[in-house]
Amino acid sequence: MKFFIDTANLDEIREAYDLGVLDGVTTNPSLMAKEGITGEENILKHYKDICDIVDDNVSAEVIATDYANMIVEGERLAAIDDKIVVKIPMIKDGVKAIKYLTGKGIRTNCTLIFSAGQALLAAKAGASYVSPFIGRLDDVSTDGLELIEQIVHIFQTYGYGTEVLAASIRHTMHLIKCAEIGADVATCPLKVITGLLNHPLTDIGLEKFLADYAKGNK
Ligand code: G3P
Repeated sequence: MKFFIDTANLDEIREAYDLGVLDGVTTNPSLMAKEGITGEENILKHYKDICDIVDDNVSAEVIATDYANMIVEGERLAAIDDKIVVKIPMIKDGVKAIKYLTGKGIRTNCTLIFSAGQALLAAKAGASYVSPFIGRLDDVSTDGLELIEQIVHIFQTYGYGTEVLAASIRHTMHLIKCAEIGADVATCPLKVITGLLNHPLTDIGLEKFLADYAKGNK
């Protein structure tokens, strides 16, 4: 399973990359705004800065919501760097834009997926990734993990090349369950990735190993 980090914070991206387990980055307009990145020029430069840190797979989201402007914006984003994956919202014009950009050899990530039908449409349009938001489904008492399972099953049944990118991951159990279910990618905040490190028995065990070593090597 690929690990993406879901942030526009360069320090967090560097920290996850330095750990040696990072396969990509997802951002969205809310995450860019959180970092205070505003204005088209600054936003494009920030995407380039992210691309300079990681090896591949930097999702950059379009703001336009109509087909004509989506494809112009998508091509502009894709021109920043070969690592860019253009993120397109799951709306009617978005599906058309995915089809167009795919035809141009530009990778796409269809975002704001909340149903299997939406994922199927995006896959048929040729999306490289679909991003079901599991935490936001859980927020409204709907099992987000069940949706991941359903989409993985459909894509496997028909052999779609579209990868299932589990998004809106809130905690380590989401991530582990996504791995069990067979999600191709999970995009998470840094604290979820580093949270996988933690186990009290590891800390206790290491403390004892070091204490025993110290006793024998005085
Ligand atoms: O990848 C989508 C993500 O940024 C949304 O997460 O926690 O705002 O639902 P959240």
